[in-house]
Amino acid sequence: MSRWNVYVTNEIPKPALDMLEEYCDMEVNRTGHVLEKSVLLEKVKGRDAILSLLTDPIDAEVMDAAKGAKIFANYAVGYNNIDIPSATERCIMVSNTPGVLTDTTAEMAWALLFSMARRVVESDKYSRMGKYKGWGPMLFLGQDVMNKTVGVIGAGRIGMSFAKRAKAFDMKVLYSDVAANPEFEKETEGQYVSLETLLKESDFVSIHTPLVPETFHLMSTKEFKLMKNTAILINTSRGPVVDESALVKALQSGEIWGAGLDVYEFEPEFAEGLLELDNAIVCPHIASATIDTRTKMGIIAVTNILAAMRGELPPNCLNPEVFKK
Ligand code: DGY
Repeated sequence: MSRWNVYVTNEIPKPALDMLEEYCDMEVNRTGHVLEKSVLLEKVKGRDAILSLLTDPIDAEVMDAAKGAKIFANYAVGYNNIDIPSATERCIMVSNTPGVLTDTTAEMAWALLFSMARRVVESDKYSRMGKYKGWGPMLFLGQDVMNKTVGVIGAGRIGMSFAKRAKAFDMKVLYSDVAANPEFEKETEGQYVSLETLLKESDFVSIHTPLVPETFHLMSTKEFKLMKNTAILINTSRGPVVDESALVKALQSGEIWGAGLDVYEFEPEFAEGLLELDNAIVCPHIASATIDTRTKMGIIAVTNILAAMRGELPPNCLNPEVFKK
């Protein structure tokens, strides 16, 4: 079996690159920056496989430049950056990295929830600015989490992992999705409700849907108006699920109490006014960013490439219909 020529669009953890290098010739973009489209178009030429990131827009133009490539192995569970129908048309396989980042992402949603509810980031900044002059009965009053209601939008793997943890805080779980999920209910004791009911009744709302046309701006002005004034929105899924300008207005006007965000509509840009708000936490898309998880994601992406190289169906192939033995 001859060695494949693989392009890796950004540096990923070393164990994954070492594994790839053992079987393939590879070039890695080590600039630390996302490649300009024009550079990406050049770099993918003549490759057998491309290990791409969620920040690389893999459209028909890139696929045509990568003529002869057998697989785009995305280093993410989300794959809204890849035009799957165009890949399928061109008989190029696409894979992702599901499973390994489920709990890690759910943990980050909880970290944002608690940090926002208890104003951790805001009060930390206050201390660092030398403003803390002694304990005060009204200093940084936040929201309790115990015994409250949490609404989970999207009952997939990550939503379920997030919701399972609500039991530890004696919380009531509501969830909404395109259909009820009996496994979700068994694992979380969650109650299936409409999005409207969920928004009206929840103290915390956490988004765990993929970005598809149906979820674009799922949360906008009308939805924020339905939420409680004391409610907190958490988003660790994809930015465009939330209309970010509408969110800024809802936070400015006190329509909702706070937001814990890891993803943005125009990443890496922020909607105007967002960064000035004390009632928003703005993390730089790090929900899966633990050493273990990012290493596992790399190993999975490489495993998908090596399977394709051996003529096997990659374990996480998203368009298996193009697989030819
Ligand atoms: C994903 O995998 O889709 C996350 O957004 C980044 O790990």
